Amino acid sequence: LRGRLSLTVNGERHAAMIDNRTSLLDLLREQFGLTGTKKGCDAGACGACTVLVDGRRVNACLTLAVRLEGAEVTTIEGLAPGEDDDLHPLQQAFIDQDAFQCGYCTPGQIMSSLGCIREGHTGSPEEIREWMSGNICRCGCYTKIVKAVEQAAG
Ligand code: FES
Repeated sequence: LRGRLSLTVNGERHAAMIDNRTSLLDLLREQFGLTGTKKGCDAGACGACTVLVDGRRVNACLTLAVRLEGAEVTTIEGLAPGEDDDLHPLQQAFIDQDAFQCGYCTPGQIMSSLGCIREGHTGSPEEIREWMSGNICRCGCYTKIVKAVEQAAG
């Protein structure tokens, strides 16, 4: 079954014809060309596909696009939309803290970190680690990722 969907992504209205089974992850990557959001497991186990929907953190691979009529989606591309080279404080913090190696999980880590800060889960390194536990890093940068979240949270 196919239907028309319209939603906002990074402040821009988008419309698409989608299959009812299309995930938000495939919609972003394959129809909107927003490939910053990564596909790791495609099964809700790695966090590489993390984005915000109406301000809340979700795994885009587990989210059916058809349920998002009128929603506001924020992806990694929406974090530093200015025309200059300014980075979002979280992006800068990941660089400052050397919080990645291969970088594949980083967009998801940063979007999850954004949710962590916005929802106030930065009280201690343990609290950050717990909040971020759904975001897997095969390079094992967890200690530095926690430091980056702490830096950005101020
Ligand atoms: Fe969505 Fe792994 S790709 S959780």
